[in-house]
Amino acid sequence: MYLALLVFASAGMLTSALDNGLMKTPPMGWLAWERFRCDIDCDHDPKNCISENLFIDMADRLSEDGWKELGYIYVNIDDCWSAKERDEQGRLQADPKRFPGGIPKLVQYMHDRGLKLGIYGDMGTYTCGGYPGTPLDKIEIDAQTFAKWGVDMLKLDGCYSNVTVQEQGYPLMSKALNATGRHIGYSCSWPAYQGGLPPKVNYTQLGKICNLWRNYGDIQDSWDSVLKIVDWFFGNQDVLIPAAGPGRWNDPDMLIVGDFGLSIDQSRAQMALWAIMAAPLFMSNDLRTISSGARSILQNKMAISINQDALGIQGRRILKEKSGIEVFQRPLSNNASSLVFFSRRNDMPYRYQSSLSKLNYTAGSYKVYDVFSDTAVTLKDSTDFVLSVNPTGVVMWYVSAPAKPSLHQFYKTGKFQAEDQNAIPYVIV
Ligand SMILES: *[C@@H]1O[C@H](CO)[C@@H](O)[C@H](O)[C@H]1NC(C)=O
Ligand SMILES: *[C@@H]1O[C@H](CO)[C@@H](O)[C@H](O)[C@H]1NC(C)=O
Ligand SMILES: *[C@@H]1O[C@H](CO)[C@@H](O)[C@H](O)[C@H]1NC(C)=O
Ligand SMILES: *[C@@H]1O[C@H](CO)[C@@H](O)[C@H](O)[C@H]1NC(C)=O
Ligand SMILES: *[C@@H]1O[C@H](CO)[C@@H](O)[C@H](O)[C@H]1NC(C)=O
Repeated sequence: MYLALLVFASAGMLTSALDNGLMKTPPMGWLAWERFRCDIDCDHDPKNCISENLFIDMADRLSEDGWKELGYIYVNIDDCWSAKERDEQGRLQADPKRFPGGIPKLVQYMHDRGLKLGIYGDMGTYTCGGYPGTPLDKIEIDAQTFAKWGVDMLKLDGCYSNVTVQEQGYPLMSKALNATGRHIGYSCSWPAYQGGLPPKVNYTQLGKICNLWRNYGDIQDSWDSVLKIVDWFFGNQDVLIPAAGPGRWNDPDMLIVGDFGLSIDQSRAQMALWAIMAAPLFMSNDLRTISSGARSILQNKMAISINQDALGIQGRRILKEKSGIEVFQRPLSNNASSLVFFSRRNDMPYRYQSSLSKLNYTAGSYKVYDVFSDTAVTLKDSTDFVLSVNPTGVVMWYVSAPAKPSLHQFYKTGKFQAEDQNAIPYVIV
């Protein structure tokens, strides 16, 4: 009953999402910031500077290397794309040297390949990088400009502003985007600038005006940074879980899998925990040179399908063991669920013993798929299992709906075997 109850409890808290029809599952794609920052030095670093070429390269990789088919369709520009001044009509304009075709050319390039283009702005006087921001009196013109260019998503940052401006500006931009008639996904950095928690942050309101929002600080290319984010999001899960749902997502920030800071085990951990959180999956890495190990984690179909589950219920941490093992669970469609066993240990692989009934699963037999080893076993709720979790790594499961234990199993030797599960004390997964 545990899972069914969880579903109903969350459904009772549903509030309506921003009514632009977008992002019913967490958006997926690529975002420039973490990996490429504000590198505008195209004379010395033409391949890695923020320019038309970088986004074209990433679009080529997304469409030719199997990413697009898996759902990674957004190619998102972050800060430092614009000229330092608005044009004569007061409109934002791309830096003509680095974006000679302007944003419309990039939009066309994306749309021709079945991809979408995201752009970046800032609800304040300047962007964080010191480029023109969008003060209150420029909201309408900027929304119109983005729509005219054909962009598909806007990330609106919050540098160089204050509580009052943000309180007015974020809802106004939502209205202004709607008024353009173009369906533009709207990512609000607002809560991250207000500490991410009530009473300063009103998640009911955010769900009505934004499709996703950054709640917390920027991710950096390190395991330490991933852990800080994980601790904050799961430490505040009772506030954050009801805020999420189809069309409205908490955003723990970009995937750094494929960069320099994470081992393979840590990369699996980030992917698994982002899937459990129903987080947007924006990679910030170099898709031109990504290793096959990182690629296979980011392209793991089962992890992606768990992330993209249609119910859109954000998962939670259900156990913090003294041993340093933490267990996370997300309810999924068709009475299925996902479990993640995460090790915070630093010594050696840890053998964790439990059973589905100890994790409050109802009686029955379950099909369990191991997401990263691509194996499956059938597990009765009462059967003890032992799994080996690497230091700073995870084991991730997709757990099917329970099937009633079948009678012929009990009777297969001609007599009733009530203690059948004890015949095999452990299943080693
Ligand atoms: C604007 O909002 C209305 C009402 O909420 C909605 O029906 C419509 O689809 C929205 N349009 C766009 C372009 O987001
Ligand atoms: C917030 O910023 C606006 C615009 O810069 C300014 O007019 C206003 O006085 C500021 N409010 C506070 C409380 O600092
Ligand atoms: C939060 O926002 C909702 C929807 O806009 C509103 O009805 C509610 O009163 C707000 N809650 C608080 C505590 O301000
Ligand atoms: C899910 O579980 C509920 C309650 O046990 C049951 O009524 C329903 O038929 C199940 N749905 C599926 C798709 O298995
Ligand atoms: C299982 O349910 C009990 C009783 O509701 C609860 O105290 C316990 O924390 C739950 N365990 C897990 C792993 O969710």
